[in-house]
Amino acid sequence: MKFTMAGRANCRAGLASAHRFVEFGCGLGYVTRWAASLGADATGIDLNEDNLAVASQLAQEVGLKNARFVSANIYEPGLEPKSVDVAYSRWLIVHLNRRCAPSTRR
Ligand SMILES: C[S@@+](CC[C@H](N)C(=O)[O-])C[C@H]1O[C@@H](n2cnc3c(N)ncnc32)[C@H](O)[C@@H]1O
Repeated sequence: MKFTMAGRANCRAGLASAHRFVEFGCGLGYVTRWAASLGADATGIDLNEDNLAVASQLAQEVGLKNARFVSANIYEPGLEPKSVDVAYSRWLIVHLNRRCAPSTRR
């Protein structure tokens, strides 16, 4: 796969083969598949079942067994503590209308 801006950002974040990678709001899973193609254990999370079905199909077509696509709301992603090495998201924030974590502001 092409080495894109998303790829450069993830490599700068330290993504390496065998890392556990999660993409929030993965859409059609382009970046999740890219991470899997590097050897990462890659999970794409999205609310949209149609997107997830296409993402899974595309991963299957290129034989990526280490990419999975999960239906969840990113506010309750169902991830265990310390179960992710690199988390990534692009073009998701514009869809969100509340904070992901309690504010630390007083
Ligand atoms: C603009 S698309 C970006 C897709 C992908 N990140 C990309 O770069 O191609 C935004 C995606 O976020 C998903 N999304 C929006 N709100 C979400 C939420 N609360 N939890 C999970 N996914 C969400 C949408 O279903 C959509 O697939």
